[in-house]
Amino acid sequence: MRLAIISDVHSNLEALEIFLDTISLQRVDRLFCLGDSIGYGPNPNECLELIRSLDEAVVLMGNHESAALNLGEARWQMNPIAFKAIVWTEQRLTKANMDYIRGLPLSAEFDPWAFFHASAYRPERWDYIRPKDRLKVGLCVEFARKRIVCVGHTHQPMLLDTNGDPVLAASFFSDGTSYREDRASKLIVNPGSIGQPRDHVSRPSYIIYDSSDRTITWHRLSDYDPSVTAEKILSTDLPSELAYYLTG
Ligand SMILES: [Fe+2]
Repeated sequence: MRLAIISDVHSNLEALEIFLDTISLQRVDRLFCLGDSIGYGPNPNECLELIRSLDEAVVLMGNHESAALNLGEARWQMNPIAFKAIVWTEQRLTKANMDYIRGLPLSAEFDPWAFFHASAYRPERWDYIRPKDRLKVGLCVEFARKRIVCVGHTHQPMLLDTNGDPVLAASFFSDGTSYREDRASKLIVNPGSIGQPRDHVSRPSYIIYDSSDRTITWHRLSDYDPSVTAEKILSTDLPSELAYYLTG
C-alpha cells in the first residue's frame, strides 16, 4: 500500500494541479490531505472542488477551514494577514464548498498512522509542533492512538522522535529524502506544505509512505513556478505579502 500525504494547499491551484499530475505516475493507493486546503491563496473554490473530486482522498479540517466557518478560536488566533485572507476567502466560498468544509473531520487513522492538522492533543487548539518543543511533542504523542503521528500546520517538513529531537540531520528535506521506519519507534512526521512552503525552499513538498518496505519519502515538486500564483494574488485584493511569501 502506498500513501501520499499532503497538507496546507492554501488555495494554490497551480501547485495542487502539478502535485496531482505527479502522483498519477507514483502508484498511490490513498491520499491523505491534512487540512488548510484554503486560505492565503487566490483559488479556494477551485482547490476544494478538485480535492472533493478525488475518490481516494481522506481530507481533514485545518485552522483555516475552522476560521472560514468562524468556529472556536481559529479566526482570532490569526495574524492580520491570515485574518484578511480568510475573510476574503469566506466571502467567495460557494455554499457547496462551505457545506463540504463543515463536514470535515479533525483526525483520521490508517494503521500505523494517525493524522491531524496541528496536534493530536486537543486538535482544535491548533498547536504548532516544532523540533525541541518537548511539552507539545509529548502531549501530541501521548494523545495519538497510533505509533506514527502525522501533522501539518507549520509548513515545514519534519521527522521527530518522542523527545522532539530531529531523526534526520538534514536542515531541509530535499527531493527524495527518505527514512525507513523500524516498526517499533514512535515518530512525528510533517510532509511540509503544497501551497506555501516555509522552509526556505519554494518547492512544494509531500510524503509518499510505502508500507511494503516501510519507507517515508519526502518529495519536492520541481516544475512548479510560484510566480504564476504570486501574480494571481497581486491581481486580487488579498494582502500582497502573500505573493512574496511564495516567491521568497
Ligand atoms: Fe497552514
